[in-house]
This record gives sequence, structure tokens and C-alpha cells, in this order.
Amino acid sequence: MKSRLFDTKPVQQILNESADNEHGLKKTLTATNLTTLGIGAVIGAGIFVLTGQAAAQYAGPAIVISFIIAGLACAFAGLCYAEFASMIPISGSAYTYAYATMGEFLAWIIGWDLILEYLFAASTVSVGWSGYVVSFLHDFGIHLPAQFTAAWHTILVEVPKMGWKPITTNLTAELLASGISIDSLPHVTAICNAPAMFIVAMLTALLVIGIKETANFNNVMVITKVSVIIMFIGLGFMFVKAGNWHPFIPKNTGEWGHFGWSGILRAAGVIFFAYIGFDAVSTAAQESKNPQRDMPVGILGSLGISTILYILMAVVLTGIVSYTQLNVADPIAVGVNAMGDSMFWLRPIIKIAAIAGLSSVILVMLMGQPRIFYTMAKDGLLPPVFSKVHPKFKTPYVSTILTGFVAIILAGILPINILGELVSIGTLLAFAIVCVGIIVLRKKRPDLNRPFRTPWVPVIPLLGAGICLYLMAALPLDTWLRLIIWFAIGLFIYFFYGMKNSKLRRIGNPENGRDKLV
Ligand code: ALA
Repeated sequence: MKSRLFDTKPVQQILNESADNEHGLKKTLTATNLTTLGIGAVIGAGIFVLTGQAAAQYAGPAIVISFIIAGLACAFAGLCYAEFASMIPISGSAYTYAYATMGEFLAWIIGWDLILEYLFAASTVSVGWSGYVVSFLHDFGIHLPAQFTAAWHTILVEVPKMGWKPITTNLTAELLASGISIDSLPHVTAICNAPAMFIVAMLTALLVIGIKETANFNNVMVITKVSVIIMFIGLGFMFVKAGNWHPFIPKNTGEWGHFGWSGILRAAGVIFFAYIGFDAVSTAAQESKNPQRDMPVGILGSLGISTILYILMAVVLTGIVSYTQLNVADPIAVGVNAMGDSMFWLRPIIKIAAIAGLSSVILVMLMGQPRIFYTMAKDGLLPPVFSKVHPKFKTPYVSTILTGFVAIILAGILPINILGELVSIGTLLAFAIVCVGIIVLRKKRPDLNRPFRTPWVPVIPLLGAGICLYLMAALPLDTWLRLIIWFAIGLFIYFFYGMKNSKLRRIGNPENGRDKLV
């Protein structure tokens, strides 16, 4: 029984399932749709929230180099995803790739791990969305009740002119510096993050209605965010003060990770989050018209465009304002402020772009998760209800609603940093496994048709896996402990449900050398 854990699923069977047009999902997406889905999933909280903090605390203007390093790591993983996605175009993404290469047990592990990437990312980014919406409404004099705008049990204080803010060491220090004691300000204890819950609920409803509707909404969001980003870059260049780029790599403070080259590496780990999402394109494989040709275009195209925009954005932002002023939740807005009063009109536009950007990230993440559940249920590793397709809308509606429900709860009660670190560790693990999978499948099945081939195998996959493991190692111990607990729950479900109901165990796979041909 034990050795069956490493049985692989026949690639031909996976391909036959993906070709099933009658009982499955609707095939409507083009290469452009896939690229915009990728950009939709990628550009979000990473650039709109984390960049400033990483520049201010770790890298200074050299955050540009951090973006290049993290972009390279993702490019290596992206090339491996592109080979798999063109070869095995099915909605299970890394889960299916692992099933075909490393066996059922690792496939389950990766499928369970992907929940951390997609479902948790949807919740994480919706918390960022809530922050931007609250601040946008605040600018227009609309104030949401503070106790419904943050994670459960967060203590908020009302800061003059800024509105309600969670208590942090930085905030306490800043207020003290201006002679205000934090204890003298009004406090409330938050109950839940209602705007975050609201956006997840709305987008879940959209996802149930249809993939085409989802793609159309995503297109509008992506056009909005990308146009505003290009506008910011174009206008921003005129306000650059070259002095802000000196020193480009601020001297290390003596502590690892605080400026200097170690700071650049640490910042790369933080802003890795900004690149997460291009792989979500692979979960739409079964809804793509011509996946073998269009998957690599969608994955690599969205990654390439996002990387260029990120690097330009980082160059401009650190050029118009000193990196020391960027340790805020809305660094791009700080950049616009630094352009002077004549550019005041750009402020609300930047916030709208951030809100649009974050909406599309949540949407595509909420789209990816149910499609992985769908494939796992088709394989018998999850109950069949997860693979139920709506008769009219042709979407995996049960798993979409379930994903939305859990994401709403997480978004409502958990703080952004715990969620975000779990997303990073989960995604890095998935990327590393996909990179290794490419090497394994090239050895085991060199004969398979590969419409797209990762160049320089095994160098690129090994570099990709190596960088991902390195970035994982740099994450805090708490995050590792949470990952271990997460896997313990996953193993329990696998041994009590998945293993007993696996279709592969019933049908068998002659490639594993034990079963007869069926
Ligand atoms: N890359 C996505 C973001 O930055 C997850 O929001």
C-alpha cells in the first residue's frame, strides 16, 4: 500500500480529461485574456503597499535590484510553469504536474499547499483592499465605523488628521516624536474587517456567474491599474531628483538585512509577494481555447509586463521621494504628494488604481482555488461535490462558493502580515516543486510533446528551486510552524479520505510498473 503513495497519474489520461468538452468547463479564453488574467493576479498589494516599506526598511533605492532578483527567481519558475502548462493543460496547475511526475502523495501535498497561495492570498489582498477603500472614503469625508475595518481584536487609535490606525511600534514612536502620547488618543477594539469580507463576497458571486464575465471584469480592472501605473511612471520621471538615488545602495547598518547587499536580498524576499499570481494563469487551462499555445504566452507575458512595470515604478518612486519617507501603507500616494500641489489631482486616481488592482488580484486568486479543488475532486482526492459544474454558468460553483466562504472568514478576522507570510511560504514551495518536476519529467518521459520547452534544463529549474528554497529559509520561524500545522491537517485528510477514494488507485497506471494496461 505504501509504495502506491508515489504512483503517478498517466499523462495521457490527464490529456484525455482536459479534452473533455462536454462535461467540463467552458473553453472561451484567448491568449490576451490569459495575459490579462496574469497581470490581474500579479500587480496588487506588492507594489501598492509593500514596495515602500521594503525600500525604507531594507534596501533604499536599491529596491530596484531587489525587484530584478525576485523577478529572475519568478522567471525561472515561470519558464518551468510554461513547459508544464503547455504539456499538461489542465486546471490543477502544480498539483496536476506533481501528480504526473512525483506521485499522488506529493501531488496532494502541493494541492494542499496551493490553498495557502490562492485562498489565503485572496484574503490577504482583500485586507489591503479594505485599507485603500477606507482611506479613499476618508478623503471624501466618509468614515466607516472603525471597529469594522480591521482584523478581530486589533486595537485601533484615532490619530488626528489620519483617522483610525492600528497601534504599531512605528506609529507609537512617530506620535511620541510629535509630542503625542498614544494613550491619550481614543481607542477601539476591532470586531472584523467588513470591507474585506464584502469584496470577497462580491467577487465570489461574479465567479459563480461565469468565466467570461470574470475575464471581462478583470480586463477593465487591469486596464485601469496599468494605465494609471504608466501615467505615474511617465509623469513621475519629470519630478525625479537624482539626489534621492544617492547612495543607491545605502550602507549596511551592521545588522543583516538592514541595507547593503543583505538588505537587498531581504527586500527581495518581501517583494516576492508582488510577483505571486502569474501561475494562476495555469489554473484556467481548461477554459482556454488553445492552451498548448496560449498558456506560455499568458504566463510569461504577464510576468514580463509586470516585471518591467515594477522596475520602472521602483526607479521613479525612489527618485521622486527619499526612501526614508516610504515606510507607509500607501507609498505610491506619498510619491504623488512629493510631486507637489500641481499634481494633487493624481492622488485619488492612484487610490482608484490601487483599489482596481487589488480587486483583480482577489478575483483571479478566488478563480484559481476552486479550479484546483475541481481537479482534485475529479481525481477522487476530495469529495465529488467539489467538481460539480453549474448546469447553466458552467463554473465549478460549489467549490467557488466554499472557497469564497472560507476566504471571507479569514479576511474578516486575520491580520495581513500573518496571511501574507503564509502565502509567500506556500507559493515558494509550489514554485520549487514545479521546478524540480521539470527535471524529473524530462528524465522519465522525454518522449512527451512539449509545445514549450524550458531552456537550459537542468540549470534554470535548479536555479529556480534554489532561489525559492533560499527565500523560504529567510521567512520567520512562526511561519514555518504554521506551515507544518497546515500540512499536519492536510495529511490527516489525505490518509482518512483521499487515499481511500483516489481514482488512480482503482484504475491503476501501467507506467508505475504494477498495473495492467486498461
Ligand atoms: N502579487 C499579488 C499582489 O501583489 C499577490 O497583490
